[in-house]
Order: sequence, then structure tokens, then C-alpha cells
Amino acid sequence: MRKDWNYRSMYVTLIKGDGIGPEITESLKKVVSSLKVDIEFEEINAGLSVFEKEGVYIPQTLFDSIKKNKIAIKGPITTPIGHGFRSINVELRKKFDLYANIRPIKSPGPLDLKFDGVDMVIFRENTEDLYAGVEEMVSDNEAHSIKIITREKSERIIKAAFEYVRANKREKVSVISKANIMKLSDGLFLDVAREIAKEYPDIEFEELLVDNTAMQMVINPERFDVIVTENLYGDILSDLGAGLVGGLGLMPGVNKGKDIAIYESIHGSAPDIAGKNLANPIALLLSFCLLLDDIGEKDKAKVLRGAIYETLKDKKNYTRDLGGTNSTYGITDTMISFLGDNNG
Ligand code: NAI
Repeated sequence: MRKDWNYRSMYVTLIKGDGIGPEITESLKKVVSSLKVDIEFEEINAGLSVFEKEGVYIPQTLFDSIKKNKIAIKGPITTPIGHGFRSINVELRKKFDLYANIRPIKSPGPLDLKFDGVDMVIFRENTEDLYAGVEEMVSDNEAHSIKIITREKSERIIKAAFEYVRANKREKVSVISKANIMKLSDGLFLDVAREIAKEYPDIEFEELLVDNTAMQMVINPERFDVIVTENLYGDILSDLGAGLVGGLGLMPGVNKGKDIAIYESIHGSAPDIAGKNLANPIALLLSFCLLLDDIGEKDKAKVLRGAIYETLKDKKNYTRDLGGTNSTYGITDTMISFLGDNNG
């Protein structure tokens, strides 16, 4: 872990979010109180529900709370498609310069999967690329979206990936681009990766195009270790990766900057199942495990991961996304029952 990502704080900002956010964050709160971990949540919401009441999507109190606590965990937030406010998620990442979106892709339990042994971590650049939001209508029938790639921002995400490999005794970095077509923007990202790779001669380095990567991830996902890529490719490849190991309901993530981190699952607000007690809370709970690891509570993270593993051994515990009939709060109670005696 990088030194500047070494947190210790009792207070964590909790953002419930929209859609299934309130249900999965409620599950998180129940688990945390049974886990007996020394964390207090400071709850401040953002998103559509806040806009309806207060006229702003992100209240100043939320910015202040994150700035003070340095750590937040959030439920998903709905982004209107095609019009209106850009994206609250993108806004938070930009405001706190959370440049590394880190998404581990690994099954958290014994599921019936096509592949065993998938264990990769995606490092996605989080602040530029097509997500910079530089778009214009040049006529009624023509829209442009500008892809921004800079040396500075490419360097820091690629370095973070190499440092992660070193700190976690992993072996390989795959840099993913489409530099054969976008010779300047993706070409710059790739050039920077080649330069940085030379500083880490002990770490294996490979270059792949994004289309080939998508295929390789489907037919031979065990070959990947740590992937580093631009914003859009990282977003798409991590959903693909989630599909390989049980789906969006199981995949955690974190957005990290120099001294602030926001933990969140990779899924969205799932409006199709919101408020129905059907959402799988495991992705958010695993995001919380990443938080525990980072604040030095590795033993508690191990206990929680163990409870999730035990829960996933029995199909009768599964929520609908995993092919079962259990509810959000049902699976939460099962996980709590497995926190057991190890949790002193
Ligand atoms: P989504 O991830 O919300 O849903 C895709 C599918 O997966 C749906 O069928 C949904 O029911 C299912 N699903 C997702 N999470 C689940 C869970 N925990 N348990 C069970 N099933 C689950 O993606 P979608 O529909 O594209 O986006 C919905 C909204 O979420 C949009 O407004 C989008 O902008 C927003 N979003 C927010 C994110 C965030 O806050 N970080 C990330 C991605 C999307």
C-alpha cells in the first residue's frame, strides 16, 4: 500500500445514494454493528433524493465531511441519461481528484462458475478520457466528445498499478489501449506505460488492445493479473470481469486519490429492483472489506470475507441475481450469523 493511502480514522462518511442504495447501506450498517469494528458512520446523502428536497445534488456538508474524514463509503447514485446534471459520481471523483479506480475481480465464494482461478485487479484512470465531459454540438446533427489523455495523469495511474503489484506480491501488469487507432491519445498512454515499465524490471509487462482484451477475458481470464487502462475501457472491462465471477452484485471497488478514498460497489442504482428487498448487498460489503484492509483492520476484513464465503456455500442463501430467492435483509442476517465467534 502506498504510504499516502494509509488511513486511520474512526469516522467514515456514509452516502446512501439512490435506488437500491438505502437498502444495501442499511445492510452494511447492520453488519458493521455485529462486526464490532471501531467505526462510526457520518451519514450525509447526495443524489436525486437530495435534489428534490434541497435543490442541490451534492450538499456542501457532504464535501466538508469527506474532506474531514478522508474516507467515505457510498451506495450508487442515479445519473440522468442524455440530459441534466453530468454525473454525481464523476463530480465527486473530480472534486477530490480520486484518480485511481481499483476493482478487484475475484469470486468471493464457491459459486458454479465457468472459470476457476480468476483473480485480477483493474486499475482504471478515473479523471480524464471521454469522461472529462468535454462535449459540444457542432450542428443540429453533429456532436463531438473530446478524449483527453495527459502524461501526468497517465503516469500516476500506471505507477499506482506497478506499485500495487510490488506491494501485493503480484507478477504482471497488462496495459490496455487502442493505440493502433487513437495514435495520439492512446499512443501517449501506451508510451508512458512503456517508460514506467522500465523502472520495474522485476515486473512482467504486456501491451494489449482493448478488443483483444475483451475476448481474452472471456476465453482465458486466468491469464490476467493487474490491468491498467483508461477511464472508458476500464469501466467496460470491469463489468465484463464482474460477469465472469458471479455478476455485479458481488464486485467491490474503491476510488483513491492522494489522501482521500471513496469505497463503492461497481454496480449502479438498479432502479428495476429498488425498494423491493431484492438487491445483493455483498458488493458493498466487499467494498467495506477493502476499506478495512486500508485502515489496518485486516483481521476484521478476514472475518467478514469468511462470513460471505460461508454464506455463498449454500444456494438457498442466494439473492435473485445469483439465481436464488433470498432477500437483501435475509442474506444480511445469514452473513451476520457467520460472523460468529471469530469476531472477538
Ligand atoms: P446497474 O448496475 O444499476 O444495473 C444493471 C443490472 O444489474 C440491473 O438488472 C440490476 O438489477 C442488476 N444489479 C445491479 N446491482 C445489483 C445488486 N447489488 N444486486 C442485484 N442486482 C443488481 O446499471 P444501470 O441499470 O446501467 O444503471 C442504473 C443507474 O445507476 C444509472 O443512473 C447509472 O448512471 C447509475 N450508476 C451509478 C454508479 C455509481 O453510483 N457508482 C455506477 C454505475 C451506474
